[in-house]
Amino acid sequence: MKVKVLIADKFPEQYIQQLKDIDLDVIYSPKLGENDLPEAAKDVDIVVVRSTIVNAATINASKNLNLIIRAGAGVNNIDIPAANQKGIYVANCPGMNSVAVAELAIGLMISLDRRIPDNVIDFRNGKWNKGEYSKAEGLMGKTLGIIGVGNIGKEVAKRALALGMNVYGKDISRIEGIAIKDFSEMNQLLPLCDVVTLHLPATPQTKGLFNKEMFSYMKPNALLINTARADLIDQDAMIEAIKTKNIRVALDVIKNEPEEKAGEIKSPLQELKNVYVTHHIGASTEQAQNAVAAETVKIIKDFISSGVIAHWVNRAKISDAHYQLVVKHYDKPGVLANIMSIIRDKNINIEEIENVIFDGGVVACCTMKLKTSITTEMIKQMQDNPNVLSVSHVAI
Ligand code: 3PG
Repeated sequence: MKVKVLIADKFPEQYIQQLKDIDLDVIYSPKLGENDLPEAAKDVDIVVVRSTIVNAATINASKNLNLIIRAGAGVNNIDIPAANQKGIYVANCPGMNSVAVAELAIGLMISLDRRIPDNVIDFRNGKWNKGEYSKAEGLMGKTLGIIGVGNIGKEVAKRALALGMNVYGKDISRIEGIAIKDFSEMNQLLPLCDVVTLHLPATPQTKGLFNKEMFSYMKPNALLINTARADLIDQDAMIEAIKTKNIRVALDVIKNEPEEKAGEIKSPLQELKNVYVTHHIGASTEQAQNAVAAETVKIIKDFISSGVIAHWVNRAKISDAHYQLVVKHYDKPGVLANIMSIIRDKNINIEEIENVIFDGGVVACCTMKLKTSITTEMIKQMQDNPNVLSVSHVAI
């Protein structure tokens, strides 16, 4: 039976073809929404989405679902706890759209400084206002604070340095070779910044991070850019800061963003002239979409050919395993069964296990992660097996 892949968002044709070429049954339904997915995904093996929400109802209704791929970076549109309960892999495509998001962040920064959108609106309304729009500050020599210096933040840093800005970052542990200064405390960083740009994922730890306190550290008249996730900002605190400190804001992500690709929108932000909003287009360049699609195809191909999931996000980071047992053994039937029966008899849980074979196929090595320690007597029992070459056991 063919593996069924449902692609529930816009996806470039050439990459759909690549999946068909490896004999997959591809269902391309780019207009599906959250509430259509439980029915649409119930018989498929793999679901690919961009921002369409994969909720618990979809996951629970599915009979064969094995892998959900987020064709993008953020995975907050997928109910990962529900996927964990059913052993469904969730993977993403990190880094593939970083340049596109960084380009938009820089574009928004220049837009805020020169008020480009207002220039255009006035022109379209038949109004010429060189006097007013000549009052921009310029970005050279200004200080930019990058909150979250991962794949996207790093691309923003490179571009901002090229503009002659001083670039400071929060959480730069993952980058090297970029001339930006690290700050661990927001109350030290924010008061220095003329421009702040957010590049963090939406997690329980980052929800509402930009609250009243953070806005209190920001300079009056500073610029704030959010091309990450709306949840990072407490919208009420932001509106207050816009009104009381003249903070000017550009957002590619907003609270209650519509799931549909086109339609009506109502937001309190529409009333505020110091707020520019783009339509969650950060990742939506052709270059980025092709890179994301190529990565999605690669994840699917690797999974089908080897069972390995690249960018597997719901693998346990902390397991209950506290001990590692490594057994080198002749690659013969029954050897592992014998080792495992020794472990089972003492009621010890194996958390993770991997058996790999040396070139030539004579010897294999089995690594097990165990919840509790095995005893010297058990090790002796294993070593007594003539098909076992070595046993090592360490606390991890
Ligand atoms: C991402 O997480 O990759 C971006 O938010 C892009 O979302 P989109 O693919 O729905 O445009």
